[in-house]
Amino acid sequence: VWTRKFSISTSQNAIKTVTVIGGGLMGSGIAQVTAQAGQNVTIVDLEPEILNKAQKSIQANLGRVAKKLYKDDPGKIEGFVKESLDRIKISTKVEDSVNADLMVEAMVEKLDIKQDLFNKLDKLAPEHTILATNTSSISVNAIGSGIKRKDKFGGLHFFNPVPVMRLLEVIKSDHISEDTYQAMMEWGKSVGKTCITCKDTPGFVVNRILAPYSAEALRMYERGDASAEDIDTAMRLGAGYPMGPLELADYTGLDLKKSILAVMLKETGNPVFEPIGVLDKLVKEGKYGRKTGEGIYKYN
Ligand code: CAA
Ligand code: NAD
Repeated sequence: VWTRKFSISTSQNAIKTVTVIGGGLMGSGIAQVTAQAGQNVTIVDLEPEILNKAQKSIQANLGRVAKKLYKDDPGKIEGFVKESLDRIKISTKVEDSVNADLMVEAMVEKLDIKQDLFNKLDKLAPEHTILATNTSSISVNAIGSGIKRKDKFGGLHFFNPVPVMRLLEVIKSDHISEDTYQAMMEWGKSVGKTCITCKDTPGFVVNRILAPYSAEALRMYERGDASAEDIDTAMRLGAGYPMGPLELADYTGLDLKKSILAVMLKETGNPVFEPIGVLDKLVKEGKYGRKTGEGIYKYN
């Protein structure tokens, strides 16, 4: 994965500076791939602590990338990490970070919070700035319903872990212009991703398929049909997935899983997305998976 070259686009409306709003799991990954592709990026989050944590995890992950790119050359490894880190700025104030060609939102999966942000960005950002959401399941059109620049708005859906997963879903909102869509596709390629085009349908492509699969696994676990470990082993060894569905749910976050299922139920009416007792219980207890140290499994 890491030996692929990142290319910086030279076309007229190429994106060269990026702001990422939300410095959690996804936002930090999006900032990392942007910086390692040679572009300047600002990460905005509410808390300085989260920003510090993001910087630390980016530094560690850049080290992994650099080791693969420049195996036997410690000087180059160090140079790559330093240069990439130097391209990343942090801020707690979104209003100070709007001077960008592209702003990607990666905040909590809540419609009203995302809408408020985009309404604000629409007013504050320069006219040419493209606005994009990394939502997993919420309608992109609904998120942008209050903004004026609907032609410069769409979805850029990354996958976790961002530096490793090669796919980017580019979601065509109803009023996106061809120029904006092309600029988003080009930018996706420039940060090393293979882009696919999605309509603004619930869960786009990947989550529309992944969410029922993971709901079925959670229900099997809840019924006690098999242990968590055996369900995960089954899908790893019997179906060739890199992770089983329950470890993947812990990895992406059970809080997010619950939000995705709720949105998908509302949007599709499919009973497979109905609430799952064990998931609700874990989320209520603050056991969100890896990020909180406990979910279906316990982590050190
Ligand atoms: N940054 C940089 N590199 C990383 C990394 C990170 N955060 N995490 C892992 N890597 C690298 C490792 O260095 C390693 O590289 P090599 O193989 O070249 O040595 C490689 O990725 C594999 O890592 P590990 O050996 O540590 O662990 P692994 O083999 O178990 O792989 C995994 C880890 C890549 C996460 C793999 O288990 C996997 O692909 N899991 C499934 C992930 C998945 O399905 N993601 C999509 C979730 S759905 C989603 O994101 C959408 C949504 O809206 C919820
Ligand atoms: P996360 O909880 O790790 O990070 C969200 C961050 O947003 C937090 O650090 C929080 O402090 C910050 N935030 C909240 N409100 C903010 C505001 N007003 N201004 C600035 N920052 C704010 O969540 P995540 O897993 O990174 O998910 C973020 C988004 O990405 C969600 O929309 C999610 O659906 C989507 N997504 C997640 C995954 C995944 O696997 N976790 C995959 C693809 C897409």
